[in-house]
Amino acid sequence: MQVSKFKKDLNALLQSEQYRKSTVGFVPTMGALHSGHISLVRQAFNENEVVVVSIFVNPTQFDNQDDLNKYPSSLENDLQLLESVSKDIIVFTPTKDDIYDGKVKSESYNFNGLEKVMEGEFRAGHFDGVATIVELLLASVNPDKAYFGEKDFQQLQIIKKLVELKKLPYEIIGCPIEREPTGLARSSRNERLSESTRDKSGFIFETLKTAKEKFGTESAKVIKDWVANEFSMNSLFKLEYFEIADIDTLTPILKKQKNRKYRAFIAVYVEEVRLIDNIAIN
Ligand code: PAJ
Repeated sequence: MQVSKFKKDLNALLQSEQYRKSTVGFVPTMGALHSGHISLVRQAFNENEVVVVSIFVNPTQFDNQDDLNKYPSSLENDLQLLESVSKDIIVFTPTKDDIYDGKVKSESYNFNGLEKVMEGEFRAGHFDGVATIVELLLASVNPDKAYFGEKDFQQLQIIKKLVELKKLPYEIIGCPIEREPTGLARSSRNERLSESTRDKSGFIFETLKTAKEKFGTESAKVIKDWVANEFSMNSLFKLEYFEIADIDTLTPILKKQKNRKYRAFIAVYVEEVRLIDNIAIN
């Protein structure tokens, strides 16, 4: 396993005799790796000869300084975990100044409304920060394919739109959500929950599954009210939003249309930790 801290070292490595002709898969992460991240790395290995994993906690995508300060970091563990997957991984751990060329600032993007709803509505500037860093990382790695989890489904759709609008030569691949045995979607933020709360947080996925069942017979309005009511009866959780939205436009559903695919999306605070999840519902 090789670790590069600077763009120029990564570049030299990817241009070396060993890798010059290899197909490159890329998995961008913010570290504190868990089996959700690892499932992306494995998929990247199945489809490419060499895999680059970046670990960089991107300050420009945090709308909340406290969330940034509390973001878990465990580089030694991360490197061990990656090495246990394959010795052929290249890990890119850039410094802020190197990746941003000294200007740690977001670009401003227009993604045809994808960036305005849900996470975009509740986390000001978040997707500008995500798109800025992903564009910089993609340019540094220059992969054939890049892998993103459906756990952050809105992020995945925005990155696909970024690549389309800017005509970038990368294939963006979406990967399924990995869950804990309780159903809780794996997340680096789960580490901040107490053990007993973490066990109880399967409630979020249970609610999504029931919403999916109801989608066959009930209107979106009835389902939204039902979800709001479920959360109002459970004091451990504070519901930020629940939406049923078209998977391509991410606009909240008004009336079910044939031939359209929908997902239910949720954001919840638990012990002051913000968790998100989603499920395909038709
Ligand atoms: P991070 O939260 O570390 O996630 C890195 C990648 O792992 C993302 O594509 C995310 O969707 C995926 N992932 C996280 N948990 C997952 C799970 N339980 N199942 C499947 N995939 C999962 O997302 C980011 O970092 C950042 O925004 C980033 C894209 C790196 C830009 O800074």
